[in-house]
Amino acid sequence: MIKKLILVMGALVTPLIIGLLFTYDVIKIDWVSLMEIQASYRPMEDPLPLPARSVPIQGAAYIPELGVPVNPVPPESNSLTKGKRHYDNSCALCHGNTGEGNGGFSAFLRKFPPVSLVDEDRTALSDGAIFVTITEGVPGKMPHLRENLPIAEMRWDVVNYVRLLQQQANK
Ligand code: HEC
Repeated sequence: MIKKLILVMGALVTPLIIGLLFTYDVIKIDWVSLMEIQASYRPMEDPLPLPARSVPIQGAAYIPELGVPVNPVPPESNSLTKGKRHYDNSCALCHGNTGEGNGGFSAFLRKFPPVSLVDEDRTALSDGAIFVTITEGVPGKMPHLRENLPIAEMRWDVVNYVRLLQQQANK
């Protein structure tokens, strides 16, 4: 009787255990996944260009025909705090924490190293010019960062913070 019971339990439990081995990837099988077989963009791959004359949901960042945009965000402490956070996340790896162009990643950009943001030339740039650089990047040299900072106000906060770095550097 007991022998029979053990046999029946074994017959039931063994497939369960084998199933669990696959469920928890103890035995790993590369199952065919149909989700992967489709036209899609991998992370960091270039997305499709925006359709002509389309406007992002946050509104147009600026309208090219109207020239360089004017900074609508006053450089108050709230803007500077946010600007510092965005700068540290999106710019510092190349331009350095103090903006001198010596971020950790700059050593790998030998052909076009990141410029100092606190030198004379960059101090002379208008707010709008820095804003456009962040939005559009510098083709072949600096990536555009409008996807990291998708809302225009985030980029103006960064502009205000870059101005603060320039003031601190030129004291
Ligand atoms: C992947 C590295 C990288 C990142 C990240 C990066 N930059 Fe740059 N940036 C560069 C390089 C390289 C140049 C120099 C391009 C050249 O040689 O003209 C540059 C140039 C600039 C210039 C000067 C443009 C001009 O017309 O002189 C400004 C302003 C600037 N960056 C601001 C920023 C800000 C603000 C951020 C963050 C939102 C940022 N960059 C993030 C690499 C980077």
